[in-house]
Amino acid sequence: MCETLASPLNYGGIILKNRVVFAPTTLGLPGDEQIQRLRDIASGGCAMIIVGDVPVLPHGFGMSLYSKKGFSWYRTLADVVHAQGCKLRAQLHQSDSNMKAMIKYIPAVLAGHISQEQMRGLLNQQVGTYVTGMPERKVQKITDAFGAAAKLALQAGFDMVQVHGDRMCGSFSSELFNKRADCYGGSAENRALFAVQAVSSIRKCLPDVPIDFKLAVRQGSPHYGNAGVLEEELPVFVPLLESAGVTSFHVTLANHGQLEDTIPSANHPEFSAEGCFLKFCDQVKKLTKLPVCGVGGLTDPQFAEEQIQAGRIDCIAMSRQLIADPMWPRKVFQGREKEIYRCIRCNKQCLGGLLAHKGVHCIYERKKIL
Ligand SMILES: Cc1cc2nc3c(=O)[nH]c(=O)nc-3n(C[C@H](O)[C@H](O)[C@H](O)COP(=O)(O)O)c2cc1C
Repeated sequence: MCETLASPLNYGGIILKNRVVFAPTTLGLPGDEQIQRLRDIASGGCAMIIVGDVPVLPHGFGMSLYSKKGFSWYRTLADVVHAQGCKLRAQLHQSDSNMKAMIKYIPAVLAGHISQEQMRGLLNQQVGTYVTGMPERKVQKITDAFGAAAKLALQAGFDMVQVHGDRMCGSFSSELFNKRADCYGGSAENRALFAVQAVSSIRKCLPDVPIDFKLAVRQGSPHYGNAGVLEEELPVFVPLLESAGVTSFHVTLANHGQLEDTIPSANHPEFSAEGCFLKFCDQVKKLTKLPVCGVGGLTDPQFAEEQIQAGRIDCIAMSRQLIADPMWPRKVFQGREKEIYRCIRCNKQCLGGLLAHKGVHCIYERKKIL
C-alpha cells in the first residue's frame, strides 16, 4: 500500500526518505508558533519542509538570513526539523512589488478605504513598469544576491535551496510584464536570463548543493496566471535552467492572477480536480530527466501513489493537506488512511487566516482539540 510514496528518492544528490514534501507556505505566525507548527509537520513523517519566501536581499519581507535574529531563528528551525528526521529547503525569493510606488496608498489602506484585495490589484498593476524600468545594475545585484542568500541558508542549516520562479523571476519571464529592450527582454531566451543568472549565482557559490526551481507555468487557454513561463515556452526555459544548475523542478500554476487560482478551492471553475496542476508536470517531464515534484490539490494517498508509479511525477508537495493533518504521511505509511483529516480545500482558515493577518490555521483545529 503506497509503497512508492514511502520509498526514498535521490533529489539532486540528497536522499529524501519518502516522496512527501511540505510545499512552501507562508504561515504568518509569530516566530515560536511557526517553529512549533513546522516541528509538528516534520514529526508527521514528511521527508522535507520547504520554508516559503526567504528573502534574497537583506531588507526583503520576511525573516532575514542576513540579520543576527533571523539567522539564529533559521538555525533553531533547522535543528528542530532535523531532530524529527526531516530535511529543510529554503525558498529564495525576491518580491516584485514596487513598495516605493505604493507609499501613496498607505493612508487609504490604514483608513480602510482600500481593501487587501484592492491593494494586491494595485501592486500587480505596478509590476510591469517596475521590472521593465529596473536598471541593469540593480537586476544584477538581485541575481547575485541569490548566491549570497543560498550560502547563508546552508550555513544556517538548510539542506538545499529552491529558487522561487514566480515573483521577480516570474515577472521577468513573462512577456505580459517584461517589456525590456535589453538582454533581459524580448525573446523567451532573454526573458529567462534573470532566472538563469539567479541559478548560476547559487551554483557558483555552492558547486554541489541541490537547486530546486519552482517552475510557475502560465496557461494560455483558458488564460490563467500572468507571470511565469507560458506553456509553449517551457521547451526554451527548462533546458536553460537545467544547464544553469537546476537539479529538480517543483511545478505549479503561475501567479499574478487571483490567489485562489494558485491555491484553488474545491469549487474552482478550472482547477477543482485532485492533482489539478499535474498536467503542467506532464509537459515538463517531456523536457527533462530531472526529478519533478507535483503540487496542487493533492490529498488522496492512492491517487498520489498512482501518479508516481505512472511516472508523471517523482514526489508530491502538499501545503493545505499537511496543515489540515501533519500526520498524513505517517498515517498513510502505517495503513491508517481512514484516520486522516482530509483537506476539503475550503481556504477558510489557511489562506483566509493569512489574508486576515491571523496566521494560517485550519477548520479541523478545533475538532482535534475537542
Ligand atoms: C496559506 C498559504 C501560503 C502559501 N505561501 C506560499 C509561499 O510562501 N510560497 C509559495 O511558493 N507558495 C505558497 N503557497 C502555495 C502552496 O505552496 C501550494 O502551491 C498551493 O497551496 C497548492 O497546493 P495545496 O493544494 O497542497 O495547498 C501558499 C499556500 C497557502 C495555502
